[in-house]
Amino acid sequence: METKDAMLARRSVRVFKDIDVPKEIIDELLKSAMAAPSALNRQPWFFYVIKDKETLEKVKKISHYTDKNSNLIIMVCGDITGLNPLNLNDFWIQDVSAAVENILVSAADMGLGSLWCGVYPKMERVNAIKTILKTPKNIMPFALIHLGYPGENKAPRTQYDESKIVYIE
Ligand SMILES: Cc1cc2nc3c(=O)[nH]c(=O)nc-3n(C[C@H](O)[C@H](O)[C@H](O)COP(=O)(O)O)c2cc1C
Repeated sequence: METKDAMLARRSVRVFKDIDVPKEIIDELLKSAMAAPSALNRQPWFFYVIKDKETLEKVKKISHYTDKNSNLIIMVCGDITGLNPLNLNDFWIQDVSAAVENILVSAADMGLGSLWCGVYPKMERVNAIKTILKTPKNIMPFALIHLGYPGENKAPRTQYDESKIVYIE
């Protein structure tokens, strides 16, 4: 698929088939994530690949998300070693967001459905996940990406809106 087609095909999928995503595909997703740009090339990301059913159910309960049937979540985290986690100006947020989007587009390219569920900066979600997964202090849970083979059809689309653009020529 052309990259621009994959970007339009990426839609939030909330119904998944009960088919496991093979390890090779998960590896591709993580390679895409770690190809993202980052400020000063710090690469301040860290990933949890969650497949264990019990853990999946616990983690799903902490977001507003109601999906019950995806059997893979990649949790994208920030490694905030040496940073003030509550300083929203820190570039790590942009760095890990780029990694998240790379996973979503790459998933669409490979025929997978995905859903970005926000965690950070909702500290009640951050803390709940840190408790469930016993993450080290420097690891800040940022987003849960629900992944799997889509059980619903979402049409590709852009949301192009000329009123949101200023040309300075
Ligand atoms: C930062 C962020 C957090 C989100 N959190 C949730 C969430 O908790 N639950 C959910 O169902 N969708 C969540 N979404 C998905 C959005 O609802 C979705 O992207 C939006 O409605 C546009 O639809 P589309 O992804 O199909 O283009 C989130 C998206 C972003 C970027």
